[in-house]
Amino acid sequence: ERFQTEAVDPFSLVADELAQLGAKMRDMVATEVPKLAQAAEYFFRMGAEGKRFRPTVLLLMATAVSTSIPGSTLAAEAQSIRDRQRRIAEITEMIHVASLLHDDVLDSSDTRRGISSLNFLMGNKLAVLAGDFLLARASVALASLRNVEVIELLSRVLEHLVSGEIMQMTGEPEARCSFDYYIKKTYNKTASLIANSCKSVAILGGQPPDVAGLAYDYGRHLGLAFQIVDDLLDFVGTSLVLGKPALADLNQGIATAPVLFAAEEFPMMEDLIKRKFARSGDVEQALQWVQQSKGLERARELAAYHASQAVLAIERLPPPESQGAAQSRRALVDLTQRVLTRKK
Ligand code: FPP
Ligand code: MG
Ligand code: MG
Repeated sequence: ERFQTEAVDPFSLVADELAQLGAKMRDMVATEVPKLAQAAEYFFRMGAEGKRFRPTVLLLMATAVSTSIPGSTLAAEAQSIRDRQRRIAEITEMIHVASLLHDDVLDSSDTRRGISSLNFLMGNKLAVLAGDFLLARASVALASLRNVEVIELLSRVLEHLVSGEIMQMTGEPEARCSFDYYIKKTYNKTASLIANSCKSVAILGGQPPDVAGLAYDYGRHLGLAFQIVDDLLDFVGTSLVLGKPALADLNQGIATAPVLFAAEEFPMMEDLIKRKFARSGDVEQALQWVQQSKGLERARELAAYHASQAVLAIERLPPPESQGAAQSRRALVDLTQRVLTRKK
């Protein structure tokens, strides 16, 4: 339409800001307690930062919904908005890494991002406390935004992360066989953080509720697609490529989308789900049924559905006001495809 855009690598569009973000996050976790400093910066060191998928989405979203400020042509004002949106990207990554530190303790995981997990290196106690410390620093950064709505949104995310994890660990046997329960759990443990941080970026950009709602919808569907693919990769990926253990879910008694779909073709799967694959031979049997069924294929289709809903949210935004906004929208659409094809 009004702005012609070429396909560009989403990560390269925000490469400069991502580099700044890396340095900023290392600053944010500085402390005079040596052991704590060492633990807290572990996943922010160069080479250990991961894909920085969430900050990339948030910086692109900030540009995608940017509008000229009515009655003001002040570059300083636009700059200040961008700074605050960048802070959301930092806070979100900080919360994400905190949840990974705790997750690796809960999952007794020895590896993460292709290196030793922090619990493997320093023990559970330090890993848990380092996660708490990251949450504390994220809270201070969040408060500094002086925006009660955004503080409330991201605080609620912390509740969701914990509930999602508990839903996965516990849950009635019947519930753990249901798709409804699986999607609720997946929203809590993964999609809520991306959804609510996308919404926060729009709110800080001064966007009205309908635009903030679309930003939320994009994040929610992208987050669901992301986790469903994660659950798929647990079956089809290798530890070497993933940089973390593969086939971890079945071994931990967790039924994800491929298993739930397989249960529709092999109803006896439900007994195994209900007893968390605890009997000897259960894991192997479940794996066989998953492979003999359309479970993996249908899980991929479910992820693709959520990716397409995320694209729809972008298409429903009011017309872009700049070339940059149009380009960032294109990159956000492109990211939905990368989530589907990612190998780690
Ligand atoms: C990774 O899942 C884990 C999460 C997305 C959320 C973890 C949340 C908690 C541990 C609750 C407490 C957290 C905080 C800091 C409030 P996974 O184990 O399926 O993925 P993996 O394969 O990457 O390990
Ligand atoms: Mg884990
Ligand atoms: Mg886990």
